[in-house]
Amino acid sequence: LPASAARAGAERPTIIAHRGASAYAPENTLAAVDEAAELGISWVENDVQRTKDGELVVLHDDNLKRTTDVEEVFPGRAPWKVKDFTAAEIAHLDAGSWFGPAYAGERVPTLEQFMDRVELHHQKLLLEIKNPDLYPGIEQQTLKVLGNEGWLDPDHLASRLIVQSFSVDSVRSVHELKPAVKTGFLGTPPVADLSWYANFTDQINPSHSSISTDYVASVHELEGPHGGPLEVFTWTVNDADTARLVGRYGVDGIITNNPDVVRDAFPEG
Ligand code: G3P
Ligand code: CA
Repeated sequence: LPASAARAGAERPTIIAHRGASAYAPENTLAAVDEAAELGISWVENDVQRTKDGELVVLHDDNLKRTTDVEEVFPGRAPWKVKDFTAAEIAHLDAGSWFGPAYAGERVPTLEQFMDRVELHHQKLLLEIKNPDLYPGIEQQTLKVLGNEGWLDPDHLASRLIVQSFSVDSVRSVHELKPAVKTGFLGTPPVADLSWYANFTDQINPSHSSISTDYVASVHELEGPHGGPLEVFTWTVNDADTARLVGRYGVDGIITNNPDVVRDAFPEG
């Protein structure tokens, strides 16, 4: 059995702070990266999209309403889509007050700013390409930014970077453009299809409610494009009982808004 499949639920899976430590600081902001670092969490997940003038920024929704003050600042610009605003306009927005007054003035980070903060804390990045259908060529552009920032150097590639997407086309595209980059597919493909996914993805990253011990074992039986067994990082698990359950399933990683809660669910470490 691959080591990951032999875990039998005792060892702590890798913990990934979802949109940063987003239970404690506004999601996808530098404050959420800092909070993950303060909790001692080494992996951070984010969501990457593109502005009207072609800058990559970190935000989950395809519009700016829920997590910024865009409606106040630009009242006539409904439906406030990320792709309809320039990077300079987005840089004016407050991306923290919605979460709490202590975070007033947090900004929507550019991908570069987000990566620099992850690097500052010596953390690792699970980068999600979000809504790629809205942003033709975003895979190539993301790889360019990663390269410019040194994240495609061999040491980063081996241990500090995974690029994932719900879009199978996007994952395949990243793999074809830069085969050395580890990739993840967000979803739960049928077991019969998993061997096809193993041609271009290193991870199958499903919702926790969609998996079982048998499903995780089926993923682990396959070898990914970089030689090791395919891995499973599951999302979004925010309580100890569910964390222990997916740990017993044998998952390799748990993506969570509450990384301290998940960590403490596995006292063995
Ligand atoms: O990383 C997994 C998770 O982020 C996928 O869902 O909607 O939070 O991006 P979502
Ligand atoms: Ca995400």
